[in-house]
Amino acid sequence: ALLIIDFGSQVTQLIARRLRELNVYCEIRPYQNVTADSIRELAPKAVILSGGPDSVTRDGSPRAPQELFEMGLPIFGICYGQQVMMEQLGGKVEGGHHAEYGRAFVTPAEGHKLDGIFAGLFTQENKEQVWMSHGDRVTKIAPGFEIVATSPNAPYAMIADEDRQFYAVQFHPEVHHTPNGKIMLENFVRKAGFTGDWTMAAYREEAIKAIRAQVGDKQVICGLSGGVDSSVTAILLHEAIGDQLTCVFVDHGLLRLNEAEEVVAMFRDNYNIKLIHADEADLFIGALEGVSDPEVKRKTIGKLFIDVFQKHADTIEGAEFLAQGTLYPDVIESVSFSGGPSVTIKSHHNVGGLPEKMGLKLVEPLRELFKDEVRALGRELGLPASFIGRHPFPGPGLAIRCPGEITREKLEILRKADAVYIDQIRKHGLYDDIWQAFVAILPVRTVGVMGDGRTYDYACALRAVTSVDGMTADYYPFTHEFLGETATRIINEVKGINRCTYDITSKPPGTIEWE
Ligand code: XMP
Repeated sequence: ALLIIDFGSQVTQLIARRLRELNVYCEIRPYQNVTADSIRELAPKAVILSGGPDSVTRDGSPRAPQELFEMGLPIFGICYGQQVMMEQLGGKVEGGHHAEYGRAFVTPAEGHKLDGIFAGLFTQENKEQVWMSHGDRVTKIAPGFEIVATSPNAPYAMIADEDRQFYAVQFHPEVHHTPNGKIMLENFVRKAGFTGDWTMAAYREEAIKAIRAQVGDKQVICGLSGGVDSSVTAILLHEAIGDQLTCVFVDHGLLRLNEAEEVVAMFRDNYNIKLIHADEADLFIGALEGVSDPEVKRKTIGKLFIDVFQKHADTIEGAEFLAQGTLYPDVIESVSFSGGPSVTIKSHHNVGGLPEKMGLKLVEPLRELFKDEVRALGRELGLPASFIGRHPFPGPGLAIRCPGEITREKLEILRKADAVYIDQIRKHGLYDDIWQAFVAILPVRTVGVMGDGRTYDYACALRAVTSVDGMTADYYPFTHEFLGETATRIINEVKGINRCTYDITSKPPGTIEWE
């Protein structure tokens, strides 16, 4: 393994991400838990010291175990990690005056051969773009080190002690804004003897071991939605602990056509997972009667969801753990945005707060993964492509695709229209090019003519967007032929709709959902 000692940087997980892209297995350990003994026990082939928010000039600020530097291991220090190395190896760090955030350019120091872990850098021009984020900087390097590259504000931007295989940089090689950072990390791991033989198959094995170690012989509850994250979580847990896992699938009656049946068939019949299908459509739809405000809808559904989940979870005897498909981006978002001056555009419902309320401990086996890695893990676990590539679906479901008041009739019509639309998209081979596609049923009836008769039915809007993260989005440029054919099919096949429009709003200023 490669050991990453985490000093608390917001981007530490990105180091792990980059290493996994290089098929190198790594473990992130918070600095508080790292002792010389624990390092010897893990027996890593190399160590990376992460960035962090503290200042090494502050008394009591985090350090690496001093013995680490005498173990003969290659070490790479990043930002705070560089400063820790300098401080602990006899250099000097000063605070205050030279803060530097964002893009910077480093240029090679005269006379350096730029080989070893620096090979392949500075090949385009005599400079590299790097991402800086530091308040302090190194002002004297430790004995044995030499300067490899400098930036206007960081004279020791890149330094190395080749004899000991110690390397350190002031910037963050793990982020995208340091385009060639990956070259450096790759050179480092190759030099340390990693061959790149670690894969998702290996991650699966490790995750299973970790789940077993955490859970022991206790019972685990997992909220299953049928989305890719909770599906992969459930299958992984089932593989690790079999019947100690019970999934609770809350069916609020706001799902797409046949969705509940598909989820039950996949997890109960195919994977043999113990599954409680909480069919609570009446409860939810009853509570939403007369509600047309989007935020009230969300709050109503969110609150009921928790009550229902808890009611069913309470029937599982001896449950001590709650499994959740939390991903790494959820972890960073909740850190960097907590307490920030952000405005609630839409309150997203989730089961946050539930574990404490129920006295459950969390199991989050996907916490270190990014979405595409979760998909790769899903493939590894044999989850069918139809589940893995699914478009995201909001927790409140069709309730927010039915602007205004919800009725069973409207939901029924919406489900059918949506199914035709998605069928069209799949038939034309467009599904995977689109981030999300759905129909919204509008709260107006309009006049039409079919055969010789007048119709007075609902209008609907088709929505399809491209996006990378759902934060911004653009409408999908369907051809007119596709749109025409789809409108005809929906109006012919779905009783209750006699008019189709296509929503060409981007986000911003629009949002993806209609509510
Ligand atoms: P908007 O409509 O805000 O959607 O542009 C961005 C992404 O978030 C999803 N979304 C939700 N997901 N609960 C959820 O779990 C919600 O209340 C909710 N509202 C929007 C939306 O489907 C899109 O992927």
